[in-house]
Amino acid sequence: MMKPVPNPWISQISAYVPGSAKAGGHAKPVKLSSNENPWGASPHAMAALQAAAGEIHRYPDGTAAVLREKIAALHGLDADRIVCGTGSDEILQLLPLIYCRPGDSLVHVRHGFMVYPIAARRAGAEPIAAADRDYVADVDAILASVRANTRIIFLANPNNPTGTMISAAEVARLHAGLRADVLLVIDQAYAEYLDEADPDGGLALARTAPNVIVTRTFSKIYGLGGIRVGWGTGPAEVIAELNRVRAPFPISVPALAAAEAAIDDQAFVDDCRRRNAEQRAILTDAISLHGNRGLRAVPSVANFVLMECPQNGPLAAGTLQQGLMELGFITRWLPGQGLPHCLRITVGTAGETAGVIAALNQLVAAA
Ligand SMILES: Cc1ncc(COP(=O)(O)O)c(C=O)c1O
Repeated sequence: MMKPVPNPWISQISAYVPGSAKAGGHAKPVKLSSNENPWGASPHAMAALQAAAGEIHRYPDGTAAVLREKIAALHGLDADRIVCGTGSDEILQLLPLIYCRPGDSLVHVRHGFMVYPIAARRAGAEPIAAADRDYVADVDAILASVRANTRIIFLANPNNPTGTMISAAEVARLHAGLRADVLLVIDQAYAEYLDEADPDGGLALARTAPNVIVTRTFSKIYGLGGIRVGWGTGPAEVIAELNRVRAPFPISVPALAAAEAAIDDQAFVDDCRRRNAEQRAILTDAISLHGNRGLRAVPSVANFVLMECPQNGPLAAGTLQQGLMELGFITRWLPGQGLPHCLRITVGTAGETAGVIAALNQLVAAA
C-alpha cells in the first residue's frame, strides 16, 4: 500500500529526551534534571507576564524590536544584528538548515548538547563528535575533525552536560584554525553564570568575524525556560538568512513582555549568579567527600555539576539516580550522551542542595 514516506535522514533522528519531571511516590519531587533556575524568574518579569494577558488577542511583534534593543544596550551589540527565537533552540535548529546540504557534516564536542546532532540530521547532515579531554572541549580534536564538507562547528561554552568551558584564547585559536566558510556557533546558554559579560570572547568575535554567531537564552539564569525566549547575534548576512526562515512570530506577547522586564532586572541576575556559585561549591565539596567511594564532581562553571560514578555496584550512576529519585530528587542520568557512568545534578536552592546532599550521603552510607 502507498503511504507517506519521510525523508530517511529525518527517520534517523533520536528524538530529544527532556529531563524527567516525575518521581514515583512523591507529590512534589525536587527537579534537578533540566538546569532550570531554582530561584524562579524576576518578580518584574512575572508581573509583566500577567499584565500582558489583556493583549493576547493581538499578534506579537515578530521582529522583537524592543527586546532586541534592550539586548543590544546590555551587551554593546547592534540590534539589527540580533535575531530572537522560540528559545535559542530555534536558532540552533535553523543554522544547519541554512548552511548544510544533505551529505555535509557539522562538528560538535563528544559529550555535548543533545540538540546539535538532531539539528544536523534535520538538515540531512552528518554530526561528527570530536573527542574531548577530561570533559573539556579539545580545540585540536575539533579542528582535526573538520572535513572538506563541514559547514558548522557547534561549541557550547560553558558546555552542557559537562559544566566545563574553554578560555577566550582557546576560542580564538579554534576560530583562527577554521576555514572562512565554516560557521562557528558559540552557544553561550550558561554564560551569565560567569562573572564576565563575555567570558569566552564569543560576543566580541560575533561583532567582527564574518563566520561567528553567538546564541544566548532567557531559559537559564533569567528563569524563563517555560516561555521560550532566546537570541543570536552575528554577521548581518547570517542574521538575514535566519530572518528568512525563522517562525514569523517566534515569541508570544506575554513571553516578550516578560523577557523585556527580565532583562531590565539585572539585580536579580546578579543575585542568582552569586547564589548559584555558593550552592555549586557546596554541592561540589559534598560530592568530593565521597572520592574514596568513586564519586567525583567535574569542576563546573555553570548551574549544574556532572558527577562521575563507579562503573558498577550500588553507586553506579543508574542505580544512584534511581535511589535519589526514591528519596524525592530527580537528577539526570546520561547514557544517551555517552556518559553512562555520570549523573548531572542541577544546582538548587540552599534547601534543595542540602536535601540532595543528605540523600546522596544516605545512599553512600547504605552502599
Ligand atoms: C547548551 C545549551 N544550549 C541551548 C539550550 C537551549 O535553551 P533554550 O531554552 O533557549 O532553547 C540549552 C538548554 O538546556 C543548553 O543546555
